[in-house]
This record gives sequence, C-alpha cells and structure tokens, in this order.
Amino acid sequence: MDKLIIEGGHVLEGEVNINGAKNSAVAILPASILAGATCTIKNLPDIRDVANIMDILMQLGADVKRESHDRMIINSNSINTYKVDFELSKKLRASYYFIGALLGRFKKAEVPFPGGCDIGVRPIDQHIKGFEALGAKITIEHGVIRAEAKELIGASIFLDVVSVGATINIMLAACLAKGTTTIENAAKEPYIVDTANFLNALGANIKGAGTDEIKIRGVEQLGGCEHTIIPDQMEAGTYMIAAAASKGNVLIKNIIPTHLDSISAKMKEMGIEIIENGDSLRVVANGRPKAVNIKTMPYPGFPTDLQQPMSVLLSVADGTAIITESIYDGRFKHVDELKKMGAKINVEGRIAVIEGIQKLSGAPLCATDLRAGAAMVVAGLSAEGQTIISNLTHIDRGYERLENKLVELGAVIRRVSEEDR
Ligand code: EPZ
Repeated sequence: MDKLIIEGGHVLEGEVNINGAKNSAVAILPASILAGATCTIKNLPDIRDVANIMDILMQLGADVKRESHDRMIINSNSINTYKVDFELSKKLRASYYFIGALLGRFKKAEVPFPGGCDIGVRPIDQHIKGFEALGAKITIEHGVIRAEAKELIGASIFLDVVSVGATINIMLAACLAKGTTTIENAAKEPYIVDTANFLNALGANIKGAGTDEIKIRGVEQLGGCEHTIIPDQMEAGTYMIAAAASKGNVLIKNIIPTHLDSISAKMKEMGIEIIENGDSLRVVANGRPKAVNIKTMPYPGFPTDLQQPMSVLLSVADGTAIITESIYDGRFKHVDELKKMGAKINVEGRIAVIEGIQKLSGAPLCATDLRAGAAMVVAGLSAEGQTIISNLTHIDRGYERLENKLVELGAVIRRVSEEDR
C-alpha cells in the first residue's frame, strides 16, 4: 500500500493547472450510453473513478478507446447487457448513473448498490422516486437495483431532498421518454449543467439545468457529439486552501471562477487575498487567517466537498470557528486524524467547533475518505515536521497527480510504497 510522506512548512508558490471535474466525468461517461453514435469526451481527469467507469462501460460491451490520458471515444451501440458487474459497481458512488442511462436507452437496468465515500447515510430513494414516476418498475433484491419499463412517460417530479445524483439520474432516464418531464427542487451544481449540455449536444431537449426546475422534453433518438468536461471546482478549491494553509502565493489555472464564488468569499472573509482573472485566480496568504463560520449548502452555497480541507485552515486560524455540515451526517471522520496533529476540534452531530492554534504538528495519518485524505495532505503541508498518510486509494479516486502538482509548487512530498519505507 502506497503512502505519502510530507515535510511540512514549505510555502507553495507558482502555478497549478486544474483538471476536468470528477463529478461531471462520472455522470457524462455513463450518459454516453444514451447516444446512438460515437461520443468523444475531452478534458477527462486521469483518476481512479474515471478508470472504474470505463471498466463498467467495457463490461457492458461498449466500444471504449482511450485516445490520450484525458480523452475517450465511446460508442455504446455494441452494449450487449444491461447488468452491471457487482465488484465494479461497488468501487464508486457514481455507478448509480448506469441505472438512469441503461433504463433510458434500453428500458432495463440491473445495477448493484453503489459504493463511495463513507460520509454518512447515502440513500438513493429520490433516484427511485424519479424512475417510478416515469413508469419504471423498481425491485431491490440481493443488493441489486432492477429497473424495467415497457415505456417511459414524462412526469413531474418534486425532489424531497436537493440531490445532485437524483437530478442527473432522472435527466438521463427522461431524455428518450415520451412527453415532458419536470424536475422540481433540482440541484444546481455545475456538474448538472455540464451533463445537460452534453445531453443537448447529443440532441436531447433539456432546459433549466442550473436552476431548481429542469424541463426535459423526450426525443426519439440521440446522436453522438464531442464534449469537453468543465474544470473541477473541488480540485481547484483544494489547491486554494492548500496555498493559504502554506502561507503561499499560487495561481490556480483553467477554472471557472464563478463556480468557486462561495470558497473565494469565505477565504476573503478570512483575510486571504483572492485575485480573479478570466479563467484563473490567484491566492495570496496574508498572515494568519481569521476564523470564520462555515455552513455547507447545495450549490451555490459552500460545498460539502470542501468542508474537510477548510477545517484544516480553520484549525490554524485566529479565533474559534463553527462548521455546520448540513448535507451529510458523517463527514467529520477526518477530525480524529487532525487531533493527532494537535488540532482543537469538538464535534457534536453535524457541528464542529474549531479553536484555532498556531501550528499543527506532523503525524502518521490514515485517509478515511476522498476529501478527508485531501484535508490530511493540506494539514501535512502546513504542519511542523513530517506527516505520513496511508490509505491513498481514497485520494487517487479524485485527484490527478496530486503529489506531482504539489512538488511543482514547492512542496516536499513523495509517494512511497510500503516496501520502500
Ligand atoms: C454528489 O454525491 C457528489 N458525488 C458528492 O461528492 C457530493 O458531496 C454530493 O453530490 C453533494 O454535493 C458525485 O457527484 C459522484 P446528493 P450524491 O444526492 O449525488 C441525500 C466527492 O467528494 N439524498 O446530492 O450522492 C444524501 O444522503 C463526493 O466528490 C437522499 O436522501 O449526493 C445527502 O444527504 C462525496 N436521497 C444529500 O441528499 C437520495 O436519493 C445530498 O446528496 C439522494 C440523496
């Protein structure tokens, strides 16, 4: 098992290029099943989750060619089964998108329950509610979700919970349905707009993505297209926080600044300089950050996926901060690890109270989930002394070349395999 070894205290300076968004890629790749012709997907991040989705597409019989590390050509006309493999499905949360895509195209899907980060209860009842509203029969047995429909008829669906996955999954199932589907109380994340743009490029008729009401007018058939994945706001946000935590000065390139408005606003509140310029922004640390309160909310609010890295910056801020995690009921597993570094954090349910200290001290840590792992890397960069992080599979699911990019910014970080140490 690989580990990361970080010598803390080095200031991050220079430029970092942001890759394509993981949470767009893991939706758009399964969505290519709906296409009746070849799709070329560009700016894909070279991460485990994308490789796992590729494996599932190939297991289903799709013709998948990796043209380069960030470009894939897919033709789903050769798909010969609607049953997703159990072992592949449990490797990530986004395998649930194969239900909407296979149901939408073939009116049948058998997908084992998805895996994904252990950050609390993660039901898929809203996905199922949407599929049933469209006329699908859903049965769940032996850990497999079976969806079947003679035909799919457009319907009006009000989501009880603002859900990224359910919003996208219902969009996928509704594209080729008869009639119009309306999703109300829809999530507004950039990934949803990106996926809707991809589907419309195939010939779908989707309006309102990015608002809380999305209208999908069913069409007879979809063609193929070329699509470029949007930049990853969570990767960008992680580097913004790392730059500030290391008291550095870093230019974050190839981003859409508006996707980062909530993070930029919070960091400015902390006294950190954020200078936006077209498709990049510069983070300039400015002494010790001030403590601020964070409440995670659906987009455009502060994203839950950056709560964990931000808790590191707040651990060394001047003052006491309160984090309210309103999306998940178990997204503080990184706190026990940060406490090993001297952090003063008290967690009660969905609230974490953080009393800022001057400096964290390096320690051996174990990544518990993707963004917790990213938080530990940020902590190791800013801490005094050496930090060793194990369980890197979590981090490799969502960050492309993390340690390489950090070394290019001046960090002292290296990946070793168990034997090397
Ligand atoms: C997506 O997960 C992201 N993953 C998550 O990012 C992200 O944290 C989350 O959206 C929220 O922004 C992918 O896109 C692959 P939700 P998803 O459905 O779709 C509840 C990362 O770090 N809910 O928006 O699974 C759910 O329990 C990952 O990249 C239901 O109750 O999240 C949660 O409390 C972690 N019933 C809330 O809604 C449902 O049917 C939001 O979940 C679905 C969700």
